[in-house]
Amino acid sequence: MNELKVLITREQIAERVAAIGADISSELAGESVLLLAVLKGAAIFLADLARNIQLDTSFDFIGVSSYGPRPSPEDELKHGWDSTGEVRVTKYPDQSLAGQNVIVVEDILDTGMTLNFLKKVILAHEPKSFRIVSLLDKPSRRKQPIQADYVGFTIPDEFVVGYGLDYAEQHRNLPDIRIIPRGR
Ligand code: IMP
Ligand code: MG
Repeated sequence: MNELKVLITREQIAERVAAIGADISSELAGESVLLLAVLKGAAIFLADLARNIQLDTSFDFIGVSSYGPRPSPEDELKHGWDSTGEVRVTKYPDQSLAGQNVIVVEDILDTGMTLNFLKKVILAHEPKSFRIVSLLDKPSRRKQPIQADYVGFTIPDEFVVGYGLDYAEQHRNLPDIRIIPRGR
């Protein structure tokens, strides 16, 4: 696993997460926020981000899954996860989103299908405000337009793992973000 090339080091991540936490804290000064992390990839990002936010903060989790034939890990690596865009909620948040400053915490923004779907679901609950923070962004892969309010790092079209991100449920525990080479 250590033979995988490092794209972003743990030190770079820590510095960027602290800066995003400071931005959120100043932009929402005087407000309370609900960090809504998308399972499971955003769990580690949530843990670090939450500790860098100087506001009344609660957090919760939402689970999503895509319909349609899931590609094999190898195909996902080659072509990404090109679903039909049909996404469903597998775990709803425990607390009400109504009237809250909801910040969706995502690991990576890829085709944009997941976040477009989540945005609709969440806005239907009439939060006070809605924001998206994504650790990584692969804008070259976008199929549905959507932008995060806060992005950690914009990356090229590579399949990456670590810091919560997986390849077939593996490598989520790596402290740095590493590249899985295509066509191994
Ligand atoms: P989207 O709906 O295509 O934007 O999909 C986003 C989801 O795809 C993320 O939450 C990840 O679970 C997964 N994903 C996309 N690219 C990568 C990657 O490079 N590594 C690991 N997971 C990825
Ligand atoms: Mg994933």
